[in-house]
Amino acid sequence: MRSVAATTAMKAVILVGGLGTRLRPLTCNTPKPMIPLANRPFIEHMLLRLQEQGIEEVILAVRYLADQFRETLGDGSRLGLRVHVMEEAEPMGTAGAVKNVEHMLDGDTFIFNGDILTDLDLRAMLAFHQSKGSKTTIALTPVDDPTQFGLVEMNTENRVQRFLEKPRAEDVRTNLINAGTYIIHADMFRYVPPNQHYMFERGLFPVLLQTGDPMFGYPTRNYWTDIGRPHNYLEVNHDILIGRIQVPFPGREVRNRIWIDGETQIDDDVQLVGPLVIGAGVHIARGANIIGPTVIGARCHIGPNVTIEDAVLWEENRLEEGVSLRRCVLGRGNTVKSGTVITDGAIVSDHCQIGAENRLERGIRLWPESVIQDQSISF
Ligand code: GTP
Repeated sequence: MRSVAATTAMKAVILVGGLGTRLRPLTCNTPKPMIPLANRPFIEHMLLRLQEQGIEEVILAVRYLADQFRETLGDGSRLGLRVHVMEEAEPMGTAGAVKNVEHMLDGDTFIFNGDILTDLDLRAMLAFHQSKGSKTTIALTPVDDPTQFGLVEMNTENRVQRFLEKPRAEDVRTNLINAGTYIIHADMFRYVPPNQHYMFERGLFPVLLQTGDPMFGYPTRNYWTDIGRPHNYLEVNHDILIGRIQVPFPGREVRNRIWIDGETQIDDDVQLVGPLVIGAGVHIARGANIIGPTVIGARCHIGPNVTIEDAVLWEENRLEEGVSLRRCVLGRGNTVKSGTVITDGAIVSDHCQIGAENRLERGIRLWPESVIQDQSISF
């Protein structure tokens, strides 16, 4: 029988201090780890996964909008964890942020980038780390086009030999990239200079290659997505809805692949085609067509004869008669007036007023509180 390593006594640090620039404007008002996936903040999906895998104590290394984390997560007990929100005065970088909380760590520690959705088996990773006598273990994932990433080369025993940042095609010898999950022994942070911006990839890891402290790569083929890339945001919601990755989202399956969370009002003559996740307090008026994979956030009002297909809406959006949404994302609290079409990768952030008979498409991005007059945008 395979021995199962114990994760319970280990602490985990989640790095959630990035600006999430690639996901703007969705991240203008909402830190990237707080953006919802299938109606639950991403960080909650992460924390639930850690809890399920036996981790009990988590430190969130936060840099901005820290109060949003405190308000949403409290002390973590709602999720069965002890959560500490630690705020940085200055951006410390990935390794610097962990150095900043070094006084809270002891022994082997799990460290996670706060923008990766994965179903990695943490106990198996820990068993690998222990069996190798490793001090630093980096989870690795294969990618199709390695030239866009930082590659990690290993020897036949999985010991890390070299890091290659965005290599030319002819220099590529592996397709394994750093998957943003690490087990690092707290002693390794003695190499990280205090109170300085310092990164793992360009700072600590190259130093460890020189000191000879054992550093191993742990390749996996688990589900893995960087939610911080805009075109991934819709995909990752779809993956959850179609079950490519199993994560618990709010709602009860009331019909085949249609999940509803709490009370909703769905009028007569509405067509619902799953997979759909619908939040509490949603009203869908007569004649609407809602086609999955689609997520509708709590308290949205979907007017008569609206069509929604392949879209993600956060909370409290108001769509008037005949609006059509297809392959797009709406943040919170937007109003879209009658007959407007939003499609083709468009992203509307929060509290925008979009007048009637507009057409938003081709990846257009609306910043918070944008106001668009009736019939003023078409392609
Ligand atoms: P982009 O601005 O879109 O690149 O996003 P990002 O800065 O969040 O992403 P990046 O891939 O550079 O960061 C990887 C992870 O490290 C993310 O989870 C970030 O939240 C986190 N991170 C990056 N820099 C810092 C930092 O200075 N402090 C802390 N606490 N976390 C950081």
